Amino acid sequence: MKNTIKLLASVVAMTASVATAQAEEFRLGLITPPPHIWTKAAEAFGAELAEASGGEHSVSVFPARQLGNEAEMLQQLQTGALDMAFMTVAEVSNRAPDLGAFYAPYLANDITHAGRILRSDTAKKLLAPLAGQVGAVGVGYGMAGLRQIVSRGEINSAKDLAGLKLRITPFEPILDFYNAIGAAPTPMPLPAVYDALANGQVDAIDMDAELIWVLKYYEHADTVVQTDHMMFPMVGLVSARVWAGMSEADRTMIGDLMAKHVDSTIDSYIEREAGWLEQIEGTGTKYVKVGADFFGGAVDEWNGIWSEKATSLDALRAVAAETE
Ligand code: BEZ
Repeated sequence: MKNTIKLLASVVAMTASVATAQAEEFRLGLITPPPHIWTKAAEAFGAELAEASGGEHSVSVFPARQLGNEAEMLQQLQTGALDMAFMTVAEVSNRAPDLGAFYAPYLANDITHAGRILRSDTAKKLLAPLAGQVGAVGVGYGMAGLRQIVSRGEINSAKDLAGLKLRITPFEPILDFYNAIGAAPTPMPLPAVYDALANGQVDAIDMDAELIWVLKYYEHADTVVQTDHMMFPMVGLVSARVWAGMSEADRTMIGDLMAKHVDSTIDSYIEREAGWLEQIEGTGTKYVKVGADFFGGAVDEWNGIWSEKATSLDALRAVAAETE
């Protein structure tokens, strides 16, 4: 009898190890276009995973919202219909409000400081509850530079933003910021922005330096205001259902490699942001560089609102002070 039980146990163990050793073809979705730094990092992650797994695993990358918008992709991650995503923390913060603290205006003094905050243990700890909160495991952060404002009209002070239809990425922290300024924030996903600015459906946009330069938003603007007012983090996600079905060894390999490649985007923006801003300034479009004072009381108003909404705000502020 004992021998039969032992035999059964070893068959179960063998079956389990065969199942976990099976090749997996993962699907990874993201909203950024093919030449974007995030998309390139996703492709590099797939290539390195294929190599590290000896060809057992592969990753098909679906850029430019081919699998839906971020809210839809987050749902697919929950059900396991999608394996992986590189996603704006903005979208995830709609369901995990503690992540909203990253958007505290002027939390980071500059882009390198933003990188240090995102690489802190405090930031990493904020990923732990995501499996329970959003049904996806957060393996690490990336980013897309600091936010700037591009306007079809002339901007000389924050008063000039009052009442403007100003495109924002659809998430609460940035909505609260532009409401505090007195603008008319207009949530709009990235792919709709170019036409909306070009045809005047919006008066201004909130955007990062890379896309202002690469997608030539400045061509439809009278003023580019370098505000550097917020960081724009990204998170590498694996469906919690898919993660639960992986062997420990695969979780370590996939988690470490994905974390490495999302993190590489932080270095890319640190290296390249100043160059994009210089090129934008060189186009001849009116270019104004401002700091927190430009926004008057809006920064304090935002802090008042979000100290209630995100319990993590004080801890992130402490990290920001330590890493200055
Ligand atoms: C945006 O919504 O502005 C955005 C989204 C993803 C990457 C960069 C920018």
